Amino acid sequence: MCNRVAGHSRILMKDNILEKITEAVGFIRTKSALSVHSGIILGSGLGDLVEGMGVEAEVDYAEIPHFPISTIPGHSGKLMLGTWNEKNFAVMQGRVHYYEGYSSQQITFPVRVIKALGAKEIFLTNASGGLNPDFKSGDLMIVEDHINLNIDHPLRGKNEESLGPRFPDQHQVYDKSLISKGLEVAAKKNITCHSGVYVGVTGPAYETPAEYRYLRMIGGDAVGMSTVHEAIVANHCGMRIFCISVITNEGNAKASFIVSHEGVIDAAQAAGRNMALIIKELV
Ligand code: HPA
Repeated sequence: MCNRVAGHSRILMKDNILEKITEAVGFIRTKSALSVHSGIILGSGLGDLVEGMGVEAEVDYAEIPHFPISTIPGHSGKLMLGTWNEKNFAVMQGRVHYYEGYSSQQITFPVRVIKALGAKEIFLTNASGGLNPDFKSGDLMIVEDHINLNIDHPLRGKNEESLGPRFPDQHQVYDKSLISKGLEVAAKKNITCHSGVYVGVTGPAYETPAEYRYLRMIGGDAVGMSTVHEAIVANHCGMRIFCISVITNEGNAKASFIVSHEGVIDAAQAAGRNMALIIKELV
């Protein structure tokens, strides 16, 4: 199964993606036969989000064939299969980012695997910088749309039609009914939760003041280094998508702009409980 691109002798990662998915799923199935309803990807500092989940199997990413391995403190890498709120989940505790050196196909491989385990919907979580001047550190934002500023597109290369279409529509990547239900739940529980546009950037450096201003001008409410690749792939393979972001720092004209990874993790952990309250009501 070696397709070659003119002028390149290297075999592209996507050429045997079906075999890779089959191998990863086959391995996970040696640990648990749980039929999965939903996937959850936990972002920076949000590892405790599904505390209370009845865990049936817990597998290190390093053990799963073809899974990329997280290298960043605060992003432990474990796939858990279990039950939460009477539903069966595949939970990725920690994700791998493009800035770690992987391709966007590699970092989205786990989404393909979660889909192949049976998931029809996926809950994405992340930490982000607030661009909207009304957003404060610790607030939540439900993503209603995104702007992808990453150059490496996860669907670039030969399309595998059995996974999804060559030119997927992206009019409504994030499920409208989950967005409005999420906002309702937050209001009922007195949680400050906005909705808005997430801008996906490559990182790993945080933005300069001029870049924060630019990202606001092009229509962003929050900016982060993850999620959009996963949303593009989940949309490609027809999954229902919900995404919620913790605003961990402010990137607007009033802010000091000093951002640290430790500060981002602390703010995410502090808001993680509110995020869990919302997601639990949606599943
Ligand atoms: N920029 C990009 N990614 C981020 C930020 C930010 O300000 N905060 C948390 N993740």
